[in-house]
Amino acid sequence: PEEDLEKHFEATIERDQRIEPRDWVPEGYRKTMIRQIAQHAHSEIIGMQPEGNWITRAPSLRRKAILLAKVQDEAGHGLYLYSAAATLGADRADLTDKLINGRQKYSSIFNYPTLTFADVGVVGWLVDGAAICNQVPLCRSSYGPYARAMIRICKEESFHQRQGFELLMTMMRGTEKQREMVQEAVNRWWWPSLMMFGPPDADSPNTAQSMAWKVKRHTNDELRQRFVDMSIPQAEALGVTFPDPDLKWNAERGHYDFGAVDWDEFKNVLKGNGPCNAQRVAHRRRAQEDGAWVREAAAAHAAKKGASA
Ligand code: ACO
Repeated sequence: PEEDLEKHFEATIERDQRIEPRDWVPEGYRKTMIRQIAQHAHSEIIGMQPEGNWITRAPSLRRKAILLAKVQDEAGHGLYLYSAAATLGADRADLTDKLINGRQKYSSIFNYPTLTFADVGVVGWLVDGAAICNQVPLCRSSYGPYARAMIRICKEESFHQRQGFELLMTMMRGTEKQREMVQEAVNRWWWPSLMMFGPPDADSPNTAQSMAWKVKRHTNDELRQRFVDMSIPQAEALGVTFPDPDLKWNAERGHYDFGAVDWDEFKNVLKGNGPCNAQRVAHRRRAQEDGAWVREAAAAHAAKKGASA
């Protein structure tokens, strides 16, 4: 009976054990997991675009090889995550359809342009840094396939973050013009990076339930604060500043205070009005349409092999 199944589900969560694909889950849990995992997968796939923009223009063979590897990693992350969503009964083709028709979200951060090569470094340092901060706790998320995917993803994200930081260190040791490029890129990416953690807790409709189900292990504001605290010594080591006059150490709280995030900008980007939303979705749609013949051919081949077996 459903009551026993529900008790078993609650007890599994309570004991900090993992929910697995064979287990019964309440419909709300299934919906939440599909929503979060799909959105995460879409972010990885759309996230290939801003950096992919620089592959053909990387300044050296070494930088190009690193960037190629990184962008390919993002594709891999998207694929593990779509597979994790499939264990909950979601269909990958349907998820992609929802993405290109604007019915599912992807991270706000990927709607900003990468204007100079310094952006490649800053995206690695701050954007992947924020992603790690948000995703390391998700390795303990209650849904097994998601939590396990997150372990490998976090290892690869750490490499991405380091390559970004190392790229910026190199530029900071270069010319005055290069140092200016880095600072200018930091100025553009800092606030959008803080928005990656989602709305403030008071305006986050999903946090309470997701915390209760141990899908999320920390609230949006907790992780945003953790990110601010860890980024400041890194900025000092690099020799850049963040564009926030209110950033200062608060000894009483044991954290850095920071200024108000522009939540109107965040909402506007979520509505589709960020600088690159239309371009990102159009590009994804084109790739999906251009790849249709490959999917059809693969399906026809599989059907033929199946018939002859
Ligand atoms: N960009 C786009 N949408 C966002 C963002 C963001 N930065 N932050 C929150 N939202 C959306 C939520 O998805 C939710 O919309 P929905 O109900 O239509 O799905 C709405 O805003 C309200 O937010 P919350 O109630 O706080 O939503 P949630 O509890 O899901 O928390 C969070 C949002 C923190 C992003 C969570 O979903 C999460 O940890 N996801 C996994 C990590 C992830 O997706 N990372 C992608 C970027 S990193 C990368 O790919 C390199």
